[in-house]
Amino acid sequence: MREIRYSQIRFGERYFEITDAVKELIESIADKLMVEYSLSRADFNERVLNANVHLQYLTAVLGDIKGKRVLDLGCGSCSFSPDFGIENFLAEPWLCRILYALGNNPVGIDIRSLDGEEFEYHSSCLLIPDSLAILPDSCFDVIHSRSLFDSPGLLISRGSDSGYLMYQRIRAQVPRILVPEGIFLHDYGD
Ligand SMILES: C[S@@+](CC[C@H](N)C(=O)[O-])C[C@H]1O[C@@H](n2cnc3c(N)ncnc32)[C@H](O)[C@@H]1O
Repeated sequence: MREIRYSQIRFGERYFEITDAVKELIESIADKLMVEYSLSRADFNERVLNANVHLQYLTAVLGDIKGKRVLDLGCGSCSFSPDFGIENFLAEPWLCRILYALGNNPVGIDIRSLDGEEFEYHSSCLLIPDSLAILPDSCFDVIHSRSLFDSPGLLISRGSDSGYLMYQRIRAQVPRILVPEGIFLHDYGD
């Protein structure tokens, strides 16, 4: 298993931009997603096409993502929770939606509801020590997490140490569910 932080990956001068290759990948499913989520082209560009930094990092570590199994922790949700304030509106599960539309078979986990999503999901609290026990051994090529361990919703609702505690608990479970050469990709500590 390899653990890779976002900050260890470089995209040359285009560090903070979505590359043309990733945009092309998203464009290939744009029509489908715009219809499915009732998005205008402008909304799609803003919320999906130009916002998918996580897909950028995923393709950077995997190369071709075709057929790769990805678990996204704290994947986002459309549901409302009074604890999560502004995150309710910013954190939709676009990585899982895109991977699903591309024909991958992603799994998303979030504490908030994912009811109605087409991809496989589990709604559970990742702070629980054995939160990933529901998943079988050696079943993912990548376990990904962006803005979870330091998410304001988590730190406000569970306290300032909760991010580090969650990271440690997740880190302890990751080797079991990753394939031996799998990657734990996240932005914690960046
Ligand atoms: C800032 S959002 C990031 C969403 C997504 N990863 C992204 O990059 O767009 C943080 C997410 O973590 C989820 N979350 C917070 N605390 C959690 C917990 N204890 N267990 C599972 N998910 C949690 C929130 O519901 C939210 O969807």
